Parts: sequence; structure tokens; C-alpha cells
Amino acid sequence: MKKDLLSIAELGPNEILRIIDLTEKIKNNKARYSDSLKGKSLGLIFQKPSNRTRVSFEVGMVQLGGHAMYLGPNEIDMGGRESVKDVACVLSRYLNGIVARTYKHEDLKELAKYSRVPVINGLSDRAHPCQALADLVTIKEKFGTFKVIKLAYIGDGNNVLSSLMCAAAKVGLNIKIATPKGYEPSKKMTEEAKKFARKSGSKVELTHDPKAAVKGADIIYTDVWVSMGQEKETAKREKDFRHFQINDRLLRSANKGCLVMHCLPAHRGQEITDSVIDSKRSIVYDQAENRIHVEKAILLLLLK
Ligand code: CP
Ligand code: NVA
Repeated sequence: MKKDLLSIAELGPNEILRIIDLTEKIKNNKARYSDSLKGKSLGLIFQKPSNRTRVSFEVGMVQLGGHAMYLGPNEIDMGGRESVKDVACVLSRYLNGIVARTYKHEDLKELAKYSRVPVINGLSDRAHPCQALADLVTIKEKFGTFKVIKLAYIGDGNNVLSSLMCAAAKVGLNIKIATPKGYEPSKKMTEEAKKFARKSGSKVELTHDPKAAVKGADIIYTDVWVSMGQEKETAKREKDFRHFQINDRLLRSANKGCLVMHCLPAHRGQEITDSVIDSKRSIVYDQAENRIHVEKAILLLLLK
């Protein structure tokens, strides 16, 4: 039976560790996998712009011996020119896998429901599982473990945070989240993450105080204040998030060797200052690089 990857919640801790393990193998021995998906084709249905997700999947597929096709908003217009169901049924007959970046998570679910080939979430309004998996790979590279590490997330309770929180809870990484009031991650996802954390022996904590969140943190993570599709809320969000910037002052409350992560694209001068993102603490380009290695592992596991 085909398997999709729509959210981290559907992966067991061992499946996550298996993806991380395969990612490390692929990263250390590219040549070994250069024919693994020979003759296979991947479609990339993107309703929103992308740099990392699109390029890493497209190039990753080629590096595995396969072929990838970008289907931007003007080509398919999923849900506009054609129903999601019809897109799924037709593309399943041409392709071996689909990566989709949608506005609505429900569209992704509908696509997966009718697709006969695996559907991978390349970001929706609710989740960004591929990013969270690459983040775990990056954290493991830097610390060698997930246990006893404390990650502080400062910013919006958005798609990136939902997946990161869930991934952290599943592998036993402690996470403390600081959002402005009204921007917390959804109650349902938080409760789910807390349930996973109880099993793995880690903690998921929420606060509205960025300084309290970064206290004793080994890693500080942030993302944009205004996600794609929320542009109309820009003025309000810029005001509501103004005390949630990662800057040199905030870093003084964290551990001395604390590292800084951001999924990118960054809005420099808003959620993060140049002085922080360009500093030695910043591992944002390692994160970005790991996207391609993790995407290859996901493709191998789902399409082979
Ligand atoms: N981090 C990430 O998914 O980047 P893109 O939006 O450029 O794909
Ligand atoms: N939260 C951001 C992440 C982009 C990779 C967005 O959805 O726009």
C-alpha cells in the first residue's frame, strides 16, 4: 500500500529515527544511491513560492536517478482549473510520487485520498514535516543526541512550529515555545505533542515570555511573523510580534554556546537581526543543506 507523508504526527518515533539514519547514510555516500529511483518521476505541485523545498526535491530526485517536474500555480491550478480529485486521479497515472505545497491542509488530504501514488507535504497552512525532519538531522549533527537538549522556539505558532514541536516530542527533545498571546500553536496539536513527549520523556512548554523561553536553551529557533497567505495581517503581526525578535540582547539570556536556527526564508530585521543570523551561532545554511539529504531519504522510503 502506498504511504504518504502529510504530517509528523503520522510517523512513529522509530520511523523518524529511520529517516534520520538513512539521511546520514545518503549524505555520506551520494554515489551509492545515484540509480536508486531510475525510471521514476516526481511531480511538484506548488501553490506558493519556494526555494529550498522545490530545489531540494527536484535536484534530490535527479541525484537518485529519477526525474522531477515542477507544476507551479500557472500549470495545474489545483482546485481552480480542475478539482483536487481529478488532479490526483490523473497525475497518479503518470507519476510515481507527488510533492505538494498548498494553502489548505485539507487540499493536501484530498489529494492524498485520491492519489494512488505517495503524496508528500511540501508545506501547508498546518504543517511542514520535511523541514522538521531536516531540523532533527541538523540538531543530531551538532549535538549527537536529542536527549537533555533544550530548544527554545520564539515567534508564531505556525506550520513550521507545529511540525517541529511534534518531531521534538517524538524523539525526546525538550521544547519551550514563546509566542505572543493569541498566536499559540493549536490546542489540539499542543495536546498531541504533550502526549508524545510523555512517552519519550521530554517536555513541551508554552510561555508568552521570550526571555523565559531562551533561559538555559541550547538552540533558539524562529520563523517569519507573517507566513505565506497571511500578508493582509502584516501590520498587526509586526506590532504583535515586536518583542519576539531574536537579537543579541535576547541571546544573552540563553546558554553561552547556544545555536540559532531558522527554516528560511528570513525576514532580516524582523524576527531575526543580521547580527544573529550572520553570526557563528547561526546554523541556518546547514539546516537548508540538510533539506536535500532528508528529501532524498523520504523519496527512497516512499517511492522505491
Ligand atoms: N524552508 C522552506 O521550506 O523554504 P522554501 O519556502 O524556500 O521552500
Ligand atoms: N511559516 C512560513 C514557512 C516558510 C518555509 C510560511 O508558511 O510561509
